[in-house]
Amino acid sequence: MDKKALIESAIGAREHSYAPVSGFRVGAALLTKNGKIYTGCNIENAALSPTNCAERTAFFKAVSDGEREFAAIAIAGGYGGGEIADYCPPCGVCRQVMVEFCAPDFKVILAQNVKDFKTVTLGELMPAAFGPSSLNKNGD
Ligand code: THU
Repeated sequence: MDKKALIESAIGAREHSYAPVSGFRVGAALLTKNGKIYTGCNIENAALSPTNCAERTAFFKAVSDGEREFAAIAIAGGYGGGEIADYCPPCGVCRQVMVEFCAPDFKVILAQNVKDFKTVTLGELMPAAFGPSSLNKNGD
C-alpha cells in the first residue's frame, strides 16, 4: 500500500473542506481493496447537526458508487489551511460507519504530513463494536 499517496490525497481533499462554523478543516482518502481512492472533506452547516465529517463523505461517495471492500483510510485535519499541528482521530460516528463496512484489520492512517503519520487499526479504535454481524444472532 502506498501510504504516502493516500496521505497526499487526504491533504488534497482538505482543500475542499467547507468549515465556516469551526474553521477545522479535514480531508480523508479511502482506499478500496482493488486500489481505488475516494476522497472526502468535512461539510459543515449553519444548523450544526447536518455537518458531515470528511471520513463519512469519503465512505458515502464510495458506497454509493458500489464499493464495499476497503483496505485503509488516511485522515488529515486541523485549523486553517496550512500545516497540520496534530493527528485527527475519527469521531465515534465515523468509527461506527467504518465498522459497518470494514474488518478489524482495516488501517486508519492519522497524518500530519507524508512524513509524520501513525497507523492504527479499526479493531483498536472500536473494540467490542456493534456491527452487521450483531444483527445476525438468534435472540436465544
Ligand atoms: N471532523 C471531521 O471531518 N473528521 C474528524 O475525524 C473529526 C471532526 C470535522 C467535523 C467538523 O466539521 C469539524 O471537524 C470540527 O469538529
